[in-house]
Amino acid sequence: FSSSSAMAAAIKNVTVIGGGLMGSGIAQVAAQTGHQVTIVEVNEGALKKAQDGIEKSLQRVTKKLYKDKPAEGEKFIKETLSRLKTSLDVKEAVKNTDIVIEAVVENLDLKHKLFSSIDSIAPEHTIFASNTSSLSIQDIASVTKRKDRFGGLHFFNPVPVMKLLEVIRIPETSDETYEKMMAWGKALGKTTITCKDTPGFVVNRLLVPLLAESVRMLERGDATARDIDTAMKLGAGYPMGPLELADYVGNDTTKFILDVSRAVASWSKASCLELVLQNVLWFESLWGKKFSYEISASVWDQCPLS
Ligand code: NAI
Repeated sequence: FSSSSAMAAAIKNVTVIGGGLMGSGIAQVAAQTGHQVTIVEVNEGALKKAQDGIEKSLQRVTKKLYKDKPAEGEKFIKETLSRLKTSLDVKEAVKNTDIVIEAVVENLDLKHKLFSSIDSIAPEHTIFASNTSSLSIQDIASVTKRKDRFGGLHFFNPVPVMKLLEVIRIPETSDETYEKMMAWGKALGKTTITCKDTPGFVVNRLLVPLLAESVRMLERGDATARDIDTAMKLGAGYPMGPLELADYVGNDTTKFILDVSRAVASWSKASCLELVLQNVLWFESLWGKKFSYEISASVWDQCPLS
């Protein structure tokens, strides 16, 4: 492969495992950009939900892209949907695929089971990628015999709208795999950045402490939720306030990221961040609507400012 377009062209058939929030978005964007896509789910209900979600999202995208050309818009939707297949059989789905994107729930055991079940079935050249937000790519890849063809492709929600793709290399990722992932990201219309296999990658590593701190401010009664969000939108130029964003990402995903970050707290020397991460239980209770002011205040009182 000598050029980026040749690298991108190497990926035509795509298998997305998990058709939830992220998987359905990844599948949609891949189908929109001309790839043959198979979504794998656990039951018919989940597949139907994924398909319905994609159809609705496609309508929205098409309205924007083909505002004054309804006939072309209809064609775009029809062609995109014709490139989407669904399956309940992961082993069958990976038999003729160039890349597998795993977007199942954030659980290492489950991801291990999945990748080890398809490692000997997928073609030699097939790249395996995980969309994990918080688990180590190297840990996920450890169960496969294709670490040179393994990497992280971390998309952002909603996938059809968000422009960024974080491409994660582990030390074993070959140059060819890395270049194919980068080229494919561009073929999907994304702007790619590269990051090592470090907790939170770039965006979450910087964003999650902000979300955690904004919840603490709310909990202490420093400012209302509306004022915290307005302050960051108008004072820091953020398009969305941190509390609004935490709701949007999903409290379960944010909690997973915090839990994992806490487990590997040694990656950060910042004692303030560490204390925030140690306070996950409080975080959880807040989002379970059981506000716990005392715990938060006492932890925060001990937290140095630098
Ligand atoms: P989700 O809960 O919306 O979707 C997960 C889907 O996986 C469900 O539809 C579930 O039925 C399916 N699934 C579970 N076991 C399966 C199996 N064995 N085979 C096939 N499908 C299976 O979760 P979401 O939010 O889409 O997250 C998925 C992954 O993407 C996680 O690793 C998460 O960390 C990551 N991620 C999430 C982001 C977010 O904003 N929610 C952003 C970027 C990454």
